[in-house]
Amino acid sequence: MTTTEKINFSVGDAVKEGLTQKEKSLPSWLFYDAEGDRLFQEIMNMPEYYLTNCEYDIFQKYKDEILSIISTDADGFNLIEFGAGDGLKTEILLKHFVAEKANFNYKPVDISQNVLNLLQERMQKSIPDLDIKPINKEYFSALDALNAERKNPMVVLFMGGNIGNFELPAAQSFVNHISSKLRKGDRIIMGFDMKKDPELIRNAYNDTQGITRLFNMNLLKRLNSELDANFNLEEFKHYPSYDPQTGTTKSFLISQKEQEVNLKFINTTVHFKAWELIHVEVSQKFDEDMIENIAKEAGLNVEKYFYDDKRYFADVVMRK
Ligand code: TRP
Repeated sequence: MTTTEKINFSVGDAVKEGLTQKEKSLPSWLFYDAEGDRLFQEIMNMPEYYLTNCEYDIFQKYKDEILSIISTDADGFNLIEFGAGDGLKTEILLKHFVAEKANFNYKPVDISQNVLNLLQERMQKSIPDLDIKPINKEYFSALDALNAERKNPMVVLFMGGNIGNFELPAAQSFVNHISSKLRKGDRIIMGFDMKKDPELIRNAYNDTQGITRLFNMNLLKRLNSELDANFNLEEFKHYPSYDPQTGTTKSFLISQKEQEVNLKFINTTVHFKAWELIHVEVSQKFDEDMIENIAKEAGLNVEKYFYDDKRYFADVVMRK
């Protein structure tokens, strides 16, 4: 889910736009209503969803090395985090940096003031000496605001493999855009889910217990209740695919027959052909060549790959 999308569109507008295109799609932030949040927690606890612990392990193992790479400047650094969430993983780094008396401040960026308040409260309790200054703005306005006042280098953290939820060209523009706000010597630390045994990847998006299926179908349920729509859940199915040649995982909702669905609140009737797709999520897997290319295009150098023990996931340090 990208926060910028969420700010610009209401549910109704987003759904209308997505379902009236030639190739139907729905933005992935629609997954996360209360029930979707709950199901996503379940996904993260399934044995097949290997992503959950990777970054946690990487930070535990390499917190020291990460600090020594980013604290080359005697004046210290600004640590900016895009979309910090509950901060559980970041906390490992922050605790270590503070214990080592690193000269830095932590600036989590989010468009939700509520998320920032919770995060600040938690961090102040667990790391009282942390210099934390949340920024309640969109990502790129936050960088502009910081650039207007800062002297020290900045390190932009974008974790969790979220970059994979952009289509590749959009991922490239996102990195380009960050890079355009950086000065020489600034850094990005970005999480990338790596290519691996295709079967493992497929299973992570198609578990045997059917939790991922419920998570996908919940999106249609949400449209039924919030937009007074009449999707018949029996007539749609969830279909995940993984193409090992491109490294792209996609999730679809598929209409199993020709039908019309009515969405009353947005005065829209949508016609589905038999087996017509709604594209709902992309999750790109990377290799080092792809990452090297993205960095180069954006005018950055890859300084270091930090892998978990199984080499499923990498946190990559890129320098302007
Ligand atoms: N977008 C996340 C990912 O790529 C979360 C996710 C896991 C997901 N399973 C999903 C999103 C199934 C949509 C459908 O890992």
